[in-house]
Amino acid sequence: MHKNWIAGQWLGSDNVQQNLNPSDLSDVVGEYVRASAHDVEQAIASAHAAWPTWSLSTPQQRFDALDMVGSELLARKAELGELLAREEGKTLPEAIAEVGRAGQIFKFFAGEALRLEGEAVASVRPGIQVEVSREPIGVVGIITPWNFPIAIPAWKIAPALAYGNCVVFKPADLVPGSAWALSEILSRSGLPEGVFNLVMGRGSVVGAAFIEDPRVEAITFTGSVPTGRQVLEQAAARRKKVQLEMGGKNPLVVLDDANLETALDCTIQGAFYSTGQRCTASSRIIVQRGIYDQFTSELARRTQNLRVGHALRADTQIGPVSEAPQLEQNLSYIDIGKQEGARLLCGGERLERDTEGFYFSPAVFADVDSRMRVAQEEIFGPVATVIPADDYEHALALANDTEFGLSSGICTQSLKHATHFKRSVQAGMVMVNVPTAGVDYHVPFGGRKGSSYGPREQGRYAREFFTVVKTAYTAA
Ligand code: UN1
Repeated sequence: MHKNWIAGQWLGSDNVQQNLNPSDLSDVVGEYVRASAHDVEQAIASAHAAWPTWSLSTPQQRFDALDMVGSELLARKAELGELLAREEGKTLPEAIAEVGRAGQIFKFFAGEALRLEGEAVASVRPGIQVEVSREPIGVVGIITPWNFPIAIPAWKIAPALAYGNCVVFKPADLVPGSAWALSEILSRSGLPEGVFNLVMGRGSVVGAAFIEDPRVEAITFTGSVPTGRQVLEQAAARRKKVQLEMGGKNPLVVLDDANLETALDCTIQGAFYSTGQRCTASSRIIVQRGIYDQFTSELARRTQNLRVGHALRADTQIGPVSEAPQLEQNLSYIDIGKQEGARLLCGGERLERDTEGFYFSPAVFADVDSRMRVAQEEIFGPVATVIPADDYEHALALANDTEFGLSSGICTQSLKHATHFKRSVQAGMVMVNVPTAGVDYHVPFGGRKGSSYGPREQGRYAREFFTVVKTAYTAA
């Protein structure tokens, strides 16, 4: 049984859940405890007690712990990738790459611990020196989703620790296995007792405690829009610092002059890989009329040929959907799209395989109107909607016709349109001839409009959220 890591100890609980493999429901990945309100209280108390000392730890101490975690993740990426694929359902190569990315993130933030500099500024008054420096915030509550069970925890935990904060970490209830494995490595990394705590469990128990407890100074959350909104309202009312990463409905524009091969590749990777379960997935494919017919028929042909199957099989390209409610949601959006008058070119059906799992065929809707629900609401599954556009200006307007603004893309050979699009699209990230999903680990990540709230994650910009600025005045 896998326990929670609280105050430097593995703590059990009567509340235990089974972690099931979505590729094969007869395969139990493991048993994991769920924290009680009392367990969470203990974790917060130990993080709070550890912070005065940890906030003064040297950059070398932080570097050593994070670097060790990064090295071990990289060395064990095949083994941990298999665990991740088993519990979440993304394919083995995708899962191994995700563990590698988590390892690189720890390495990057190990280095960041050494690079935290401030500024010395001359005062407007004589004889006074001003220094601007960054300090850790305190105890950070970390809440992560099921779709990236190790990379998202890594990109929140690593900067939190690098900048001197203490952590209480709540992974998604659906996929505790990779989070537990990461926490087990952290438990051996030399961090003092209480600096890092794992509390697997329900959002209604653990998340609620993060919000209620005044010792939690900041909450970083990736997940759904309704939960994010709730976290923001309740945490802001208690003057906590909040960082939210929520949904996306990312546009990929394909202009008449695009390289067709590149455009199809970006669409298939962006819309269907990782089973479409990415907030950066391309779900609004906006195609100029000159290549519309050729593009949609070739997209449907290639989509039908994608091999959907068990995440651990070598020939699988698209793994199963993560869980039953998500499968239901995908199927219901297929019905909604048909009722709205979108033309279903392929897919959108539940599939049978040798093992019982949540298999679903990737779907393409064509002739979609931008205002249809399938083009506006985040489905979080392998469903692409293709929207026709008259010209570049129309395509840009359609790209911005969404309440979200996380990622975006354009496939074109026109420098003029690419340059204009990069400047004009209302999104935190924009890709030219590159898929909207699958980002680098060392540069800022985040969105605008309804997708995100608060400072960016990742890269050196992560310090905006995980530190607070102090201005010191000294008279010599
Ligand atoms: C990626 O596309 O490389 O939840 C990362 C998500 C995002 C991560 C996407 N926060 O899908």
